[in-house]
Amino acid sequence: MSHHHSHAHQGGFDENAAERLAWSDAMLLGHGPMDDTHEEFVHVVKALAACNAVTALGCLQAVEDHLLAHFEAEREWMVRTEYPNMDCHLDEHQKVLDTVLRVNQLAKDGQVGLRDVRRLAAALADWFPKHATYLDSALSAWISKRRHGGVPVILRRDLAAGVQQESTFT
Ligand SMILES: [Fe+2]
Ligand SMILES: [Fe+2]
Repeated sequence: MSHHHSHAHQGGFDENAAERLAWSDAMLLGHGPMDDTHEEFVHVVKALAACNAVTALGCLQAVEDHLLAHFEAEREWMVRTEYPNMDCHLDEHQKVLDTVLRVNQLAKDGQVGLRDVRRLAAALADWFPKHATYLDSALSAWISKRRHGGVPVILRRDLAAGVQQESTFT
């Protein structure tokens, strides 16, 4: 799932990424609901990295549930704000989701061990900062541009035209 900066690390990602992952204001992108979602991402991935044999299945399910909601929320914001180039962003979500769904299913079938589950947590922790920096930050900026830019002016003009038209006919 992780293609960048992978040369130094076995398996294509930093195996210690989950230990380094920590929520801080430096990760805020400015869109409140998105920031809340990203804080939750950090918590569920940290919990997955710290899971044991008893908690692993629950932690995996929590990550899966989180990602379904996280990615669906961002998709809805993209659709609602007519975000350009959605495909690249959504492709990356899908790849990550596919991996989590696969590992969770294998875990339910008893076919992966704790070490694999922790490797998934490290892969997610390694992936997220890059995704947030390059793709989510662009989406956050786009949403606030749409919110504070031309759209409200256009709505106001439409409203004024409608009122004017109405008064012409009464
Ligand atoms: Fe995100
Ligand atoms: Fe995203």
